[in-house]
Amino acid sequence: MTLIQVDNLTKQFENEKIAVNDVSFQVNEGEFLVLVGPSGCGKTTTLRLLVGLESVSSGSIRFGERVVNEIRPRDRNVALVFQDYAVFPHMNVFENIAYGLRARGGYSRDEIQSRVNNAAKMFRIDPLLKRKPRQLSGGERQRVALARAMVRDAELYLFDEPLSNLDAQLRHEAREDIMRLHQEKQKPTVYVTHDQSEAMALGDRIAVMRLGNMEQIGTGTELYNHPVNMFVAFFIGAPSINLFDVTLEADNGDLYARAEDFRARIPDQFKDRLSDHVGQMVKMGIRPEDLHVPKKAPFEVNEDNTIEGVLNEIEPTSTGCAAYLSTETTEKDYIATFKLRLPASYLGQTIPLGINMDKVQFFDARSEKSLLYA
Ligand SMILES: Nc1ncnc2c1ncn2[C@@H]1O[C@H](COP(=O)(O)OP(=O)(O)OP(=O)(O)O)[C@@H](O)[C@H]1O
Ligand SMILES: [Mg+2]
Repeated sequence: MTLIQVDNLTKQFENEKIAVNDVSFQVNEGEFLVLVGPSGCGKTTTLRLLVGLESVSSGSIRFGERVVNEIRPRDRNVALVFQDYAVFPHMNVFENIAYGLRARGGYSRDEIQSRVNNAAKMFRIDPLLKRKPRQLSGGERQRVALARAMVRDAELYLFDEPLSNLDAQLRHEAREDIMRLHQEKQKPTVYVTHDQSEAMALGDRIAVMRLGNMEQIGTGTELYNHPVNMFVAFFIGAPSINLFDVTLEADNGDLYARAEDFRARIPDQFKDRLSDHVGQMVKMGIRPEDLHVPKKAPFEVNEDNTIEGVLNEIEPTSTGCAAYLSTETTEKDYIATFKLRLPASYLGQTIPLGINMDKVQFFDARSEKSLLYA
């Protein structure tokens, strides 16, 4: 059984830069963990520590029972696809893919031949086996790197943004290929991406990093519904969650979120968590999907649980449309998404949007921690 257990992992470079700060997580047997976070947050460094290309400053990495901190990369048996999809320029595609097998040894000539052919087919580069990398497009090179990593049986598979050079169609195909191979091999996998929709699509669980820290790990649904802080709430979900400054008010046994231009009744299930914060200014988060437009014009305004806004822009999307609205007190437009296209005649009108209050998030204005789920 392979279980990857990382405890209190820290990496401080010679220049004092702490790229990974006291990070703990595990990857279960057969699990596909996606690592996301903004540029420079420590994703690549984490993968390099796992594979052994960087030394650990403190903490431990275990593969099953074995602590691998001091074990050389080649003895860890980890397959890694680099961010810059490095392929060997002097080897043709066949040799590049076979390299993964030859470097480890123990595969017969015939087995190498058949594994390389299969992997090349899988990634649709079988007609290119005799070409050198400079005779390939960026996307083809990327698929060579994928085939090279996945051709062999490793204990752990690591991918560092392997699809960034592919167009949407190829990206989609390569994603499915990776998933199919992953399902066959059932080995722990860590996959880095910037793209939160890719993370949601691929990950059994998603780990969100920021500035070297692990902010939260959970299933896509957990992170979407129960983010522990504003950063995770903002990072997961597209378009991003809308944030409003509101004051928590008690009135007749009910709790309200009040802004200058709207008042929303807070559902009973959140009251306990918020009761210590009555009178405080907090951040309220509403996802664009949780705002709904009333059935038809003319619109009724001034109701509880609705936010009125001037409709500034309607952007068609593959699933309907995104609407950009503003009020006098909001600094920037907030976004609502709808399954239907709004008619252009609504532009410039003041529209009240119903808020699905059961889905609203609240954050401490200073610490940005969730008041509901931290
Ligand atoms: N060898 C090094 N020496 C010093 N600092 C480094 C070194 N390698 C990386 N860093 C720094 O560590 C931090 C994390 O880098 P890392 O490459 O892990 O980020 P990342 O999350 O992969 O970013 P990206 O999404 O841009 O690839 C960055 O601030 C980077 O500048
Ligand atoms: Mg990186």
